[in-house]
Amino acid sequence: MNTQQADVLILGAGPAGLLLSQLLHQSGVRSIIVERTSKERVLSRIRAGVLERGTVEALHEANCATRLEAERIDHDGLILSFDGDQVSIPIHELTGHRVTVYGQTDITADLVDACEAREQQIYWNCPDTVLSKLTSEQPCAHFTDPTRGRVEIQAKIIAGCDGFRGVARQSIPAHIRTESERVYPFGWLGVLVDKPPVAHNVLYANHAEGFALASMRSQTRSRYYVQTSPGETVEDWSIERFWTTFKARLGPLSDGLETGEPVEMSITPLRSYVCDQMQHGKLFLAGDAAHIVPPTGAKGLNLAVADVRRLARAITQWDKGYEADLMRYSNEALSRVWKVERFSWYLTALMHQFDDHSVFEKKMQRAEFDYIRASTAAQLSIAENYVGLDY
Ligand code: FAD
Ligand code: DHB
Repeated sequence: MNTQQADVLILGAGPAGLLLSQLLHQSGVRSIIVERTSKERVLSRIRAGVLERGTVEALHEANCATRLEAERIDHDGLILSFDGDQVSIPIHELTGHRVTVYGQTDITADLVDACEAREQQIYWNCPDTVLSKLTSEQPCAHFTDPTRGRVEIQAKIIAGCDGFRGVARQSIPAHIRTESERVYPFGWLGVLVDKPPVAHNVLYANHAEGFALASMRSQTRSRYYVQTSPGETVEDWSIERFWTTFKARLGPLSDGLETGEPVEMSITPLRSYVCDQMQHGKLFLAGDAAHIVPPTGAKGLNLAVADVRRLARAITQWDKGYEADLMRYSNEALSRVWKVERFSWYLTALMHQFDDHSVFEKKMQRAEFDYIRASTAAQLSIAENYVGLDY
């Protein structure tokens, strides 16, 4: 058994774990990262792409924003379409802020580069981590490293940044975990294609046949989604079927759409989930390890970054001898989490077709859309959530 000491052990090398180690490094706190899978796999995941201003600020704080600054595309509005009617929400005019398009894949690559440049210790390919003694002064992680064999890390703090299916949250005893969940009766089929985006801004469409979303990763790479039925798999969808469905749902907003063979095509189930304990003894959860939002509104990565920013500051204070911020971390992080859960749930409920909706619920959806179209106050409410709530 190889035994190692660490101030902070970070579980998971997704955006949350990588950013936490980078922010801690900036303030002189050393960490070790343990990741379940390979570096290649972590770098190849295609997920988020729309960043709140706070996320952009965090990447600057982490000193990882050079490529972001060179390649970012800023958006000053978004468009909602409902049964062919549209409202354009001028988020910059309403809030003074914009959102930024820059892929999660690129953020992850920038953070991995930064880790490698400063020789951050990362254990890749370690799928069997077990956490123990979490409520003691010396919590531990045990795992098998493919080259070194069995490893024990004795830490002072463990940060669980290991995503929704990770082991950190599951290490909190079930009887003290309060979990709330809503699983939606549909998924999203996402297509990444090397064609210019169909529109400058992000388009959300609720059509009688289902939801569609047009987003982008760059001036030459587009990210498009359609709502799928429960149980459908990628094999059920040819790319021809995708384009026909997507065009029908966007209607005239799809004029000028350039179609092509996908770079990637995958289905994501939609879920809202919160674990109301983001701390257990010396274990602190951040990002998808503690909560999931449906992707409508592009909040998951942004919320993970908001947690990490708060946790990095609290750990930095703890390192200087002040523990109060760390003890407040769970409650304060959850206050933002629930607001972001609300917005993602609201936009999901507004923009999707639900098989079990009665005529009354369909009319309510339509009335909500008409209200947004007519009301600057309603548009401001969407805009301030979309650009990201203040910290
Ligand atoms: P993850 O990215 O899941 O990273 C967790 C890491 O931990 C992984 O590398 C995993 O391999 C590792 N791990 C798991 N188990 C273990 C273990 N036992 N031991 C060690 N390591 C482990 N968010 C947005 O903000 N904007 C968007 O536009 C957006 N669009 C999205 C579109 C789609 C289709 C999807 C699926 C998600 C989208 N999201 C979006 C959500 C966003 O991608 C996630 O919220 C984000 O990846 C969370 O980061 P994380 O680091 O917390 O978790
Ligand atoms: C993406 C963009 C969005 O605006 C959204 O709500 C969900 C996902 C994206 O670019 O992946």
